Amino acid sequence: MSYPEIRPRRLRRNAAVRRLVSETRVDPAELVVPMFVKEGLTEPRAVASLPGVLQHSRDSLRKAAVEAVQAGVGGIMLFGVPATRDETGSGGIDPDGILNVAIRDVIAEVGDATVVMSDLCLDEFTSHGHCGVLTPDGAVDNDATLTEYARMAVAQADAGVHMVGPSGMMDGQVGVVRRALDAAGHQDVSVLAYAVKYASAFFGPFRDAVESALEGDRRTYQQDPANLRESLREVELDVAEGADMVMVKPALPYLDVVAAVRAAVDVPVAAYQVSGEYAMVEAAAANGWIDRERTILETLTSIRRAGAQIILTYWAVEAAQLLRQRY
Ligand code: PBG
Repeated sequence: MSYPEIRPRRLRRNAAVRRLVSETRVDPAELVVPMFVKEGLTEPRAVASLPGVLQHSRDSLRKAAVEAVQAGVGGIMLFGVPATRDETGSGGIDPDGILNVAIRDVIAEVGDATVVMSDLCLDEFTSHGHCGVLTPDGAVDNDATLTEYARMAVAQADAGVHMVGPSGMMDGQVGVVRRALDAAGHQDVSVLAYAVKYASAFFGPFRDAVESALEGDRRTYQQDPANLRESLREVELDVAEGADMVMVKPALPYLDVVAAVRAAVDVPVAAYQVSGEYAMVEAAAANGWIDRERTILETLTSIRRAGAQIILTYWAVEAAQLLRQRY
């Protein structure tokens, strides 16, 4: 103790001073809740590997959207689970497809009270589970997929969505979607680009939630977890193509990537705390091995501290409630 006057612990001595000097706060307005809706369901159904997350019926989705708005979340990201699938994922483009119907339902219910977003990808709608259409020899055909994404974007915008989230990692997807939206008179619909998306094992439980048909993997279009510089190239391209916001996904195992992306661009940066991140915490908490609420808030704070302004998380509604009690 040669310098007794320098004592960092003075600013930790009680809750009041800790609150005063806290560098990072998570605001419910910056949380986005992903929601699943399944065609043909009359009652919501639990997803075994995502305890607390539901596959909604159209009715229960509307109610959940209202609850999310009441909790103060900043947005809702919609995913559709169709009853039938085909080679080209035509259910994503059909105005009567489950995701487009759900967008209409949610917009009718909550209007502009929160930001309504939709996943723009074919994997939930294709019989083979890939994010794009296939060539005759089974490879994912980048440019043929872009044509489908353009149509899907317009269908979602026609349904009233505020923001589309192209998540298929095809080259050029943001530019194609932006042009298609503009050509259809949807200049106001914004694009949240899944700019950085790794071929991650952490997506496992999501694939249960959407009953994914995928066999094999997505390594020819999603990124290698080993790469950071590649992410900065992806982000630069997406911003140049007209992305209004960019996202990094998954979140917690990639905080270095979040920080680097934050430093590289001026558009809002989002991070997606994915299904496997959620499932790990829920499983450990269910065993009594960690304190569930503290862990949830710590993960969100860490993602925020790394530089993500917006966080997609399955805990959004609960976390919004917890945060209101806290501040
Ligand atoms: C693709 C998509 C995926 C997720 C969001 N959008 C799955 C994938 O790429 O396989 C994963 C989200 C999560 O794990 O929570 N439509």
